[in-house]
Amino acid sequence: MRLGLFGTGYAGLVTSVCLAHLGHSVTAVDKDPTIVAALSEGTPTIHEPGLPELLADNIKAGRLKFTTRSEDAVAGSDIIFVCVGTPPRSDGRADLCQVEEVARTIAPLLDGYKLIVEKSTVPARTAHWITRTIRRLTGPDREFDVASNPEFLREGTAVRDFLEPDRIVIGADNGRARSLLLDLYKPSFDCPIVLTSVTTAEFIKQTANAFLAAKISFINVMSDLCEALGVDVTTVARGIGLDPRIGGHFLDAGLGFGGSCLPKDLSALITVAEENGVDSGMLKEVRRINSARVERLLAKLERALWVVRHKAVAVLGVSFKANTDDIRGAPSLTVIPWLHAGGANLRVYDPAAVPKLKALYPPDDRLVYAESALDAARDAHALVILTDWDEFRSLDLGRVRSLMRTPIVIDGRNLFVPEVMRAAGFEYYSLGHGDVTPRVEMQRVGV
Ligand code: UGA
Repeated sequence: MRLGLFGTGYAGLVTSVCLAHLGHSVTAVDKDPTIVAALSEGTPTIHEPGLPELLADNIKAGRLKFTTRSEDAVAGSDIIFVCVGTPPRSDGRADLCQVEEVARTIAPLLDGYKLIVEKSTVPARTAHWITRTIRRLTGPDREFDVASNPEFLREGTAVRDFLEPDRIVIGADNGRARSLLLDLYKPSFDCPIVLTSVTTAEFIKQTANAFLAAKISFINVMSDLCEALGVDVTTVARGIGLDPRIGGHFLDAGLGFGGSCLPKDLSALITVAEENGVDSGMLKEVRRINSARVERLLAKLERALWVVRHKAVAVLGVSFKANTDDIRGAPSLTVIPWLHAGGANLRVYDPAAVPKLKALYPPDDRLVYAESALDAARDAHALVILTDWDEFRSLDLGRVRSLMRTPIVIDGRNLFVPEVMRAAGFEYYSLGHGDVTPRVEMQRVGV
């Protein structure tokens, strides 16, 4: 099929590359000529495992083009995907300016029947507004439909999530639109396909992200209780997660959910509930619990260090989660300025996201960007882990300990087993395990 696509952010770029990989002819539009130039040369604009190879292969095979010209993506296309950003407004609602702009751009370019498909996460009934916007501009004669086909891609595993989906949701209000999307996906995937109305599909995506957020806040409350009771949250998560009614995924306690999707979509859903007179209390509590996670880590850090000023602190992990360079909604954006303002000397390391943080916080005499995790740990009074990169899990603990001035680790992602850390000679603070403090101190207080 011939496909047009608007927006080459995370979702748009992965979707266009993967659709081309399935054999379709894809033209992706972005307003930013530098992004288009980079992508056209096969240079990915995001860090995503598996993407560079597929990007290069599909450009070479002539199935994938990037352009700033909207008409190239609309002319001759069977389906047009809308993948532009829907960032949060200051009142928490989704900002749909870019979606409206795409609708207004497409309208005069329609050259025969087109199926316009929402991929971006949008509030329920956005398709209705896209239809009205286009119809107002074209009059009643032009043939088009608007459908919803939400994406469930996670940054860091987005290519695999696209190519091995657990389900595909197709929201279409008539047979023609539904058949086109089935023709697109059915030959390539044998996962369950949920066929539903457009509004239901829009709401499935919002509900999925709100549920994932709720699951994380739930385990985080349990993790605080685990600490109080001297119980290990990782074992509790495993113990409950083996029940298929609960499921073992998304039960990693720690610093909570960041990124550009879960926090934004949860806030948008809260405003939808409020606008419709529906109790939003539970959703608000999920958000409140999440926003307290970083403070909890900072309290532990302060308790461990006592005085922060002039202490050398190694910070491992800048991105909001592993395998991405995305720092939107990342704990590092709170922790690093807090430590800096508190007078600490920082050595920061991340395998991918340092350039993005550097653009916000250039290095200075108290903020150094280290070359590696070990380099960051050198002479540190404490080491703080903010992201769950595998590279940190497999650190040589003996080496880390020997490099540090005082062996204090504050782990916001529960990457290590407390007993292992104790055996390796660390004072170890995590979110959901009992703290490991030096034996001498424990004896003194009679523990
Ligand atoms: C999320 C959803 O998982 C995707 O299904 C969805 O398509 C995407 O949003 C979107 O709406 O576009 P993403 O934001 O890439 O994907 O990242 P997640 O893997 O969901 O992680 C979100 C946050 O939750 C991260 O900060 C992560 O560290 C945290 N998290 C995740 C936990 O704290 N504990 C967990 O058990 C899992």
